Amino acid sequence: MRRIGFLGCGKIGKALVRHIAEREDMAVEFIQDPGFINDIGVQCPVLAKADEAAFAGADLIVECATAQVLSENLELILAHCDLMMFSVTAFGDPDFERRAKALCGTYGRTIFIPHGAILGLDGIFDGGPVWRQVTVETVKSPSSLGRQDNRRSVVYEGPTREACVHFPRNVNVHAAVALAGIGFDRTISRIISDPEVSTNAHRISLSGDGISITLDISSYAAGAVTGAYTPYSACGSLDRALGNGAGLRFV
Ligand SMILES: NC(=O)c1ccc[n+]([C@@H]2O[C@H](COP(=O)([O-])OP(=O)(O)OC[C@H]3O[C@@H](n4cnc5c(N)ncnc54)[C@H](O)[C@@H]3O)[C@@H](O)[C@H]2O)c1
Repeated sequence: MRRIGFLGCGKIGKALVRHIAEREDMAVEFIQDPGFINDIGVQCPVLAKADEAAFAGADLIVECATAQVLSENLELILAHCDLMMFSVTAFGDPDFERRAKALCGTYGRTIFIPHGAILGLDGIFDGGPVWRQVTVETVKSPSSLGRQDNRRSVVYEGPTREACVHFPRNVNVHAAVALAGIGFDRTISRIISDPEVSTNAHRISLSGDGISITLDISSYAAGAVTGAYTPYSACGSLDRALGNGAGLRFV
C-alpha cells in the first residue's frame, strides 16, 4: 500500500484523490489545504497547516497548490518522502533549484516532474544536448491569466525565468520545458491574452542539429488556470511514479 499526502487539493488534487479511491494499492494519507472543500467524500485527515507527523506517514507528497506553498514546505517534504510537484514555476527561482537539489542529495529523494498540461517532457530531456532554440507560446483567456484585456494582446515575451515571476500560476508548461531542455534563461516564453478563447493552448518549438519539433496542445479551460487534459495526465503520472505493475508500460 502506497500512502500519498496532498499539499493543495483543488482541480488537479481532487482528480487524483478520485483516482486513488479506485485503486487498492494506494491510499490518501492526508490533505493539507486551508481552503479544501470536501465535495468528493474523501475520508482522511484534512490539515490547515503543515504537521510533521503527517508528512512522516506518507510515501509520496503530491504538490498541487502554488509555487510559494511548495517552496515553504520543501524541506519538510523531502526530509520524509519523495515529491511530485505541479507548480514547476518554483524552479524559476535559482534558490529553490539549489535547495531542491541539495535536499534530494541529503535525504536521497526523488522529485517527479509530471508532464501536466503538455506531453513529451521525456523526449525534450532526452534530446538535451542538441537543442539550440526552444520557444513556448501560450494563448489563454484574460480570466485564466488574472487579467481583464478586451482584445488579443501579447502580455509577455522574453526569457522563461522572468515569465515565472510575472505569471507563476500560468507558465508551468514553460517552466517544465525549460527545466527539461536548455534552462530558464535560454528558453523564450511568449504569453498571449485572448478574450475570444475558452482553451489553454501551447505551441512548443524546439530545434538544433538538424532536428526540429513542434508540439501544439489545446485543452478546454473555460477561464481556469488548469485545462481539461491535465487531470488525466496527472493520474497517469502518479501511476508511473509509483510503478504500475505488470502489462504495457510507455517509456
Ligand atoms: N505542470 C503543469 O502542466 C500544470 C498544469 C496545470 C496547473 N498547474 C499548477 O498546479 C497547481 C494546482 O492547480 P489546480 O488547477 O489544481 O489549482 P486549484 O486552484 O484548483 O487548487 C489549488 C489548491 O491549493 C490550495 N491552497 C492554497 N493555499 C494553500 C496553502 N497555503 N497550503 C495548502 N494548499 C493551499 C487551494 O485552497 C486550492 O484548493 C497550480 O500551481 C497550477 O498553476 C500545473
